[in-house]
Amino acid sequence: MSYYPARAVVDHAAIRANVERLRAVAGRAEVMAVVKADAYGHGLLPVARTALAAGATWLGVAQLGEALGLRAAGVTEPLLTWIYAPGAPLTDAVAAGIDVSAAAPWALEELAAAAVRAGRPARVHLKADTGMGRGGARPEAWDGLVDHAARLAAEGTLDVVGVWSHLARGDEPEASTTAEQVAAFRAALAVVSRAGLHPAVRHLAASSGTLFHPETHFDLVRPGIALYGLSPAPDVASPVDLGLRAAMRLEADVILTKDVPVGTRVGYGHTYATPEAGRLALLPLGYGDGIPRHAGSTGPVQLAGRRARIAGRVSMDQIVVDLGPGADVAPGDVAVLFGDARDGVPTAEDWAAAAGTIGYEIVTRLGTRVPRTHVSQEVTP
Ligand SMILES: Cc1ncc(COP(=O)(O)O)c(C=O)c1O
Repeated sequence: MSYYPARAVVDHAAIRANVERLRAVAGRAEVMAVVKADAYGHGLLPVARTALAAGATWLGVAQLGEALGLRAAGVTEPLLTWIYAPGAPLTDAVAAGIDVSAAAPWALEELAAAAVRAGRPARVHLKADTGMGRGGARPEAWDGLVDHAARLAAEGTLDVVGVWSHLARGDEPEASTTAEQVAAFRAALAVVSRAGLHPAVRHLAASSGTLFHPETHFDLVRPGIALYGLSPAPDVASPVDLGLRAAMRLEADVILTKDVPVGTRVGYGHTYATPEAGRLALLPLGYGDGIPRHAGSTGPVQLAGRRARIAGRVSMDQIVVDLGPGADVAPGDVAVLFGDARDGVPTAEDWAAAAGTIGYEIVTRLGTRVPRTHVSQEVTP
């Protein structure tokens, strides 16, 4: 779709600054830019290129298909993927030099078979479940998985490049489970070295570990949300506190204004009535664009120098904003739903609070029909 009266402006200068900040925090550890889910809604390829140019040395994506897409676009840097099912196109992944996570015997076997077909060893990161209870092999399965990988490595079909895990409560600096997970990770690493394997990268930290827990840095950190300038724990530290800049600014053009009397009922279900006479503005974004319907009557909008709220329900394609009395707003003016706090606009975290969710979801759920406008790019995709 070429014309759309709304846009997500993605600021690559902010992404570069955030990568630089994360590199400084990570110290000796390398930075893997996590660009899964279309770079959290910001645009996979442009963000990947900018993050690499800014000093990230690895990329991480959840879906194998996203990894294959990056390689098809000519991205050659180290690249890890961790979500695939039996029967996935692992031969393509191995042939493309994509690093693949493995947490179960079936995955090792499929990777080894893919390596034979591709004519080169599969680059594998063994994943331990150190307490997240999601991906990864549990401790009782770990020794068997490591022995299995060591046998395949000896045969020449696997190259165990990494060992990794993920924190469940890294965003809660006081949670004792992070120390428990670090200890469990160290125990898992000891099993790996006893098996004669010496992976180049051991990694545990996402954004919260990177920013709040230096003891989780190991050889590589895997920040996602912080790259985009949002805080992994806004109650603990805001993006400004963390030295991060929001990379996405969601704008919409005003398409209609109307002056209404007090008590004017607005939208489906008449859940809102104007508390005083004033001006309403209609904006062309709705839940069909990923605006959370839960943010009805609460979602904040910056327009004509004032902070207004959604009036009533979020429709599929539109929202109404109540500007109150005296607003000098006309069709064509630009409203900002969220962006960087330093610009005096609401943030994705504000929207998350309004909708009962997290900033991650606000940016990631933004629909594909909203155009992304990339600004301040130094490398072209
Ligand atoms: C395994 C893994 N590593 C790293 C990340 C990046 O996390 P964050 O966005 O909190 O930095 C994620 C995202 O959920 C993940 O699943």
